[in-house]
Amino acid sequence: MPDSPSVDPQDIAPAVTNLETIVSLSKRRGFVFPSSEIYGGINAVWDYGPLGVELKNNVKRAWWRTMVQLRDDIVGLDAGILMAPQVWVTSGHVASFSDPLVECQTDHRRFRVDELPGAEDLSPSELMDPGVVQRLGLTCPVDGGPLSAPRRFNLMFKTYMGPVEEDAALVYLRPETAQGIYVNFRNVRETARKKIPFGIAQIGKAFRNEISPGNFVFRMREFEQMEMQYFVRPEAAAGQFEEWLPRRLEWYETYGVIPARLRTREHRPDELAHYAKKAVDLEYRFPFGWKELEGVHNRGDWDLGRHQEASGENLEYFDPATNEHFIPWIVETSAGADRAAFTFLIDAYREEEVRGETRVSLALHPELAPYKVAVLPLLKKRPEIVELCHRIKDDLKRDMTAVYDDTAAIGKLYRRQDEIGTPWCVTVDVESLEDGAVTLRERDTMTQERIPVEGVKRAILDRLDAARP
Ligand code: GAP
Repeated sequence: MPDSPSVDPQDIAPAVTNLETIVSLSKRRGFVFPSSEIYGGINAVWDYGPLGVELKNNVKRAWWRTMVQLRDDIVGLDAGILMAPQVWVTSGHVASFSDPLVECQTDHRRFRVDELPGAEDLSPSELMDPGVVQRLGLTCPVDGGPLSAPRRFNLMFKTYMGPVEEDAALVYLRPETAQGIYVNFRNVRETARKKIPFGIAQIGKAFRNEISPGNFVFRMREFEQMEMQYFVRPEAAAGQFEEWLPRRLEWYETYGVIPARLRTREHRPDELAHYAKKAVDLEYRFPFGWKELEGVHNRGDWDLGRHQEASGENLEYFDPATNEHFIPWIVETSAGADRAAFTFLIDAYREEEVRGETRVSLALHPELAPYKVAVLPLLKKRPEIVELCHRIKDDLKRDMTAVYDDTAAIGKLYRRQDEIGTPWCVTVDVESLEDGAVTLRERDTMTQERIPVEGVKRAILDRLDAARP
């Protein structure tokens, strides 16, 4: 697939120009908080608040639905975060999972070389060139101080298993979920009775001691991945790669991301990770530039081949149709759950003028919206209205996330729900007590419709179903 898009990427405006708009909305409305904030925070770890956890769970659910539930050829797995340390030696992470860093000689801050102004486009070998700092005249971006020559910094977190902190007890926090899938390849194939081509999908935490984390939840030290490894015949890998790439792009578009803000970028040969034969990043136009959202990789037979060799266990696949034994090749789709949730949040952000006021709304896909519906009283002083609201809300809650709010006048209540992306509001007024009907309001069009109380749940379930891919 050629790199897209056909339009000049620089012409495409991000959904918000200032990241601060999203950071402050997230804090104010309870999507994301800095971790351990009362102790001053901890760098590059973020906590999801009541709305954030709903959004991120919905993103993970949507991914699982597309990648596992709707497919006959992909099954799930939930492997441990801690694994035998030998896994990371075999996978190449102990030797190669590192970034080149330089250190400022005056303030001792450390930077990834490729993030220094003037070094962004260097190849991996140029980034490790001992003379690169002098040749390009690179200096500390904070205080202008001199920088050391580059050296490799391994990104894996280490800890100790058991009561003694000694080298023999060293274990790593996994830097990717993929290895849990490879070491379970045989278990899953045998128990799920899958024939090639088939996939194994997993969602889980990963940890990387990033040198320069930042841009809010974009690059964190603790994050979640949604990875799928598709096992294929060697000669089918290139073709499967070309099928998975557009499928994954389409997933983001289906859940609402504006297609012009997505593009693909193929890794240059000198940029490829140690395991990859081919790699293409799906990139999104973040407020801070085009950045990776997900990677699609042709990993060849690197992973199963290496694990077979190091463990001495047979990880070959026997194809009864051709009578052949072979190591399957792997096409991997590797997404970040946090990065995906962040992308959906940014991309959904809307500001518009309504009757002289700025209306902020999140046009989130209904499947992703934290609350599907808010039930609101027009008059909170009338107990019968409040009681009917609660009755409707409690009934809705059996099938979806629903909230009741009476802490402001109706106009303000609508704006609050718009700002957190609630697709529907149900309003109960004095007339509802007479005619048994309520108002159903749509977030994006702000249109209102009168429907009978008994029809509320069906109306919303039908709309949710119609929106579901
Ligand atoms: N198994 C292959 C692999 O891990 P990767 O490109 O290193 O590939 C895949 O990571 C995805 O994981 C990225 O596209 C991104 O969405 C997410 N990711 C990686 N590092 C991250 C970090 N420090 N913070 C948040 N998400 C991250």
